[in-house]
Amino acid sequence: MVPTLCPVIVGRDSERAKLRAMLQAAAHGRGATVALLGEAGVGKTRLVRELTERAQAAGMPVLVGRAVEGAPCPALHPLVEALLAGLRSRPLSDLADLASFRPALGRLLPPLRTEQSGLVEESMPVLSEGVLRLLRALAGRSGLLLICEDMQWADVETLAVLEYLAAQLRDEPVLIVITVRRETAGQGLDLAHGLQARAGASAIELDRLDEAGVAGMVRACLDSHAIPEDVLSWLSERAEGLPFLVEELLASAITSEALRRDPGGWSFSSPTRPVVPVGFADSVHRRLATAGDATDWVMRCAAVLGRVFDARLLPELAGQSRDAVAASLRRAAELQLVTRHDGVHGTHRFRHALTYEALLADLPGYQRSELAGTALKIVEEAWPGLPDGWCMLAAQLAEQADDHSRAAALLLESGSRALASGALSTAQHALEQARGHATTDEPTLARIEQLLLRGPRAGRTVGAGRRCRRTPARRAGPDRCPGSRTRGRTAVTGAGGGTGHRLGPGPRAPRTGACRHSRGRRRDSAGGCVRGRRRDRSRQR
Ligand SMILES: Nc1ncnc2c1ncn2[C@@H]1O[C@H](COP(=O)(O)OP(=O)(O)OP(=O)(O)O)[C@@H](O)[C@H]1O
Ligand SMILES: [Mg+2]
Repeated sequence: MVPTLCPVIVGRDSERAKLRAMLQAAAHGRGATVALLGEAGVGKTRLVRELTERAQAAGMPVLVGRAVEGAPCPALHPLVEALLAGLRSRPLSDLADLASFRPALGRLLPPLRTEQSGLVEESMPVLSEGVLRLLRALAGRSGLLLICEDMQWADVETLAVLEYLAAQLRDEPVLIVITVRRETAGQGLDLAHGLQARAGASAIELDRLDEAGVAGMVRACLDSHAIPEDVLSWLSERAEGLPFLVEELLASAITSEALRRDPGGWSFSSPTRPVVPVGFADSVHRRLATAGDATDWVMRCAAVLGRVFDARLLPELAGQSRDAVAASLRRAAELQLVTRHDGVHGTHRFRHALTYEALLADLPGYQRSELAGTALKIVEEAWPGLPDGWCMLAAQLAEQADDHSRAAALLLESGSRALASGALSTAQHALEQARGHATTDEPTLARIEQLLLRGPRAGRTVGAGRRCRRTPARRAGPDRCPGSRTRGRTAVTGAGGGTGHRLGPGPRAPRTGACRHSRGRRRDSAGGCVRGRRRDRSRQR
């Protein structure tokens, strides 16, 4: 299997330059503390790794201590881990300067233990000063880099020592880098924020990569500049700029052979089942397990409705009271699985596209299909005529319920509405999906072909020999959430296919009031139907 860990750091130029400058300053006796702040997987450790290599190349000792989630560690464990490693490579005779602090340090660090170590009172300032002097001694003339990883899980004593050190390093040959997850509230995060206000200390916030950054990572991971455009759009939609997910999704796509290296280069076929990295799925399931069965079930029902979902559908779908559903949503929001969707009343949103895909992937096929069928009925009853985005949502539900003729009819309706509103690329995509579902329904196929031939763009790409595949209907996203009035998108990329679209807000479709599948069928001519089917078949694999 091709390794998908990115061999180079993509972007982060200014952050890397800042860290390099701090390292150099520490080597010249002007130390500092800096916090790297960012969400899980954004690349904190990656930057630290690069800095470590740089420090080692310059002959600086590097000490690393880590806090571990939920581990019952003794107090000050991260510092003890780092300092013991430092002591391993230094003869104690180098540490004469420490004499009066050895009893306090010896309580933590066996190599420094003295007869008085068992007698001294615990005093954080004395201990902190002892740590400072030990770091100074270990730094010698070359300077020293101390890395404290994952301080969101650190014990209070470790954080207290780090806070003390942060105020003292300006004239010391020591750089301390601490990494903290931004989403884990607690004293570690407070310390990191507090550093911003201190002289001689600072915090660097790491954001997600932009699209160019993701594309750069994919090229580097796959060691190729010729990456199919649909790989990039598939990935950026799911990884949302998180480097960890870029690597994980690539690995999953290669394992499932959705992404393959052929003699001619990389080829990609959009996976038919959700691809969710194992580590990510585990973390979703572990979090949900703490919320209890009722919330777990409500979230699974919500996942069937898509990434953005209307909570008003949930009581009936999940078979729970409105209050119970509201409580589950609150709990899921506390667990950072969902959030309210801005601006549209009643809608919520899974914080990450992979969150709902992880829940969906975990539902047995028959249950998912049953739930989708029930949801379809609820939607059709609650919004007669399926106005706005409801028609597309209904199509997605029909598709999940394996009701292909209904999916085809609803996609056809969505496509023709999009065409009427001038959203040609959206129309084309919906119609091509409809074609994939209506394999034997001649009148529907004829109508689809007729509409596909109508737009100038559509005419070009339809004739371009693309294969007709049964691809999943595009999920209702934030800008096409059910019930919102902001539907309609236009393509800004060139012709070439439904998979590589970049979409922006487009004009709103006129309200049609009803899904008129039957009327569409009646209007179709037999000749159009036959022509359409022939073309369709010639594209089937
Ligand atoms: N800028 C980048 N360029 C290329 N690869 C990156 C970049 N940032 C992160 N990665 C890769 O993404 C993965 C996750 O990064 P990393 O472990 O540094 O995240 P983290 O912020 O430390 O997460 P956590 O909070 O879980 O420790 C790593 O395999 C890393 O190599
Ligand atoms: Mg890390």
